[in-house]
Amino acid sequence: MSNPIEPVALVTGAARRVGAVIVRQLHAAGYRIALHVRHSRAEGEALQAELQALRADSCLLLEGDLADTAALPDLVSRTVDHFGRLDALVNNASAFYPTPIGETTEQHWDDLFASNAKAPFFLAQAAAPALRLSRGVILNITDIYAERPLRNHCVYVMAKSALRMMTLSLARELAPDVRVNAIAPGAILWPESGKAYADQQTLIDKTPLQRAGEPEDIARTALFLLRDAPYITGEVIHVDGGRSLII
Ligand SMILES: NC(=O)c1ccc[n+]([C@@H]2O[C@H](COP(=O)([O-])OP(=O)(O)OC[C@H]3O[C@@H](n4cnc5c(N)ncnc54)[C@H](OP(=O)(O)O)[C@@H]3O)[C@@H](O)[C@H]2O)c1
Repeated sequence: MSNPIEPVALVTGAARRVGAVIVRQLHAAGYRIALHVRHSRAEGEALQAELQALRADSCLLLEGDLADTAALPDLVSRTVDHFGRLDALVNNASAFYPTPIGETTEQHWDDLFASNAKAPFFLAQAAAPALRLSRGVILNITDIYAERPLRNHCVYVMAKSALRMMTLSLARELAPDVRVNAIAPGAILWPESGKAYADQQTLIDKTPLQRAGEPEDIARTALFLLRDAPYITGEVIHVDGGRSLII
């Protein structure tokens, strides 16, 4: 059993990109990390080794497809069994791609809802008892497009909208023991496919701060909501350079 005083965070989809930066930020602040991956096992192992080199037994690697709902409680119980507690669940994993009308299948729907809405709910439900004990936190990573349409992405924005409402709803249901908040990022890292956004410069032109954000902007806000915001619950913080101010 590890040191029971250091807090523990379970972060989904955390091997790469924004999730990995959140993990590094939390770890640097003293959190022990349950690092969930699906396909990015090699990157997850490299990140685990990096963190373990900094502090022994500070990172547990968990693997699984979040579409496997029956397996979700196991991610939580393995974290609690290993570290002895759970202080934060960060629902970061997300599928993101267009679903134009006329071309969208039930499989697209199921896939987009699995990572963006269904798994966060069932993970939260499984984590609630341990989070109540630690007076912990759930943090959902939504999107500014949870509150406005994004052309050709109807199913994705519906799923993120569900995650946003889950944030508000669970904040009431789990109070006063567990706080539940969300971060709604704007343009931070472009999708790797490069296909989803035809015109990245147009997006930046519509952003008052005139640039894309950085994963560190999300990670710093995550740490704030987890560690430094004991009177904030049911809140969605837009980290978007002001993008959501512009229609
Ligand atoms: N990047 C942005 O500019 C931006 C903008 C708005 C909102 N966001 C939100 O911020 C968060 C992080 O963004 P990101 O761009 O870093 O995310 P990302 O790279 O698109 O996805 C993060 C991880 O999600 C995991 N994932 C997807 N479907 C999964 C499934 N069914 N089961 C398990 N894992 C699954 C993948 O893990 P594996 O690689 O291990 O398979 C992937 O690496 C996401 O919630 C995203 O919606 C990002």
